Amino acid sequence: MTIIAPSILASDFSKLGEELRSIDEAGADWVHIDIMDNHFVPNLTFGPPIVSMIRASTKLMFDVHLMVEKPETLFLALKAAGADRVTVHPEACVHLDRTLTQIGELGIKAGVALNPHTPLSVLEYVLDKVDLVLIMTINPGFGGQSFMPSMLPKLRQLREMLKRHGRDDVYVQVDGGINRETAALVKEAGADSLVAGTYIFNHPNRREAIASLR
Ligand code: DX5
Ligand code: ZN
Repeated sequence: MTIIAPSILASDFSKLGEELRSIDEAGADWVHIDIMDNHFVPNLTFGPPIVSMIRASTKLMFDVHLMVEKPETLFLALKAAGADRVTVHPEACVHLDRTLTQIGELGIKAGVALNPHTPLSVLEYVLDKVDLVLIMTINPGFGGQSFMPSMLPKLRQLREMLKRHGRDDVYVQVDGGINRETAALVKEAGADSLVAGTYIFNHPNRREAIASLR
């Protein structure tokens, strides 16, 4: 079954609680929360206090995508705010293995996000510490960008790599430019967790939007 994780980056921040309840009622599986620091990516969103404030609006799992430098400085606050998974970019972690260990020690799930240019080989020795690999299908920083079809072979190679390591249980997530058409392509290539912002939040019927991705 494909997991659908609406990205609240595309929601109306002036009524985040309502937006969360809306996607919950529309059948979302997880909430994808994009934290950006204007250093690792050229955009700025919000931090743990906002995550904590919206935690009461839904019981859905909080899937936090950290696009920040020194992500380890946020782990404790994010755990306290109710994050269920924290996904980091290897380029932001001097010691990726240590960073993933720190997340695990807090009792939350850990993910690794790969930018379009980042090779799968960075995962080779840390796969035992992750429950999700995020293949970025855009360059991170903004919603509303176009899906990169060049990431489809990467998804297939990741699936093979996970099989080789006996880690078929690891979620293969995609993020960026996901809509009804691109969802079919990424699922065929091995993705089982789909992040979508613009497509779901701009759709006149969010329930239909989520169903069409699944
Ligand atoms: C971008 C974020 C995405 C973004 C996707 O850096 O990681 O989660 O919200 O937006 P759409 O679905 O609009 O491409
Ligand atoms: Zn994201």
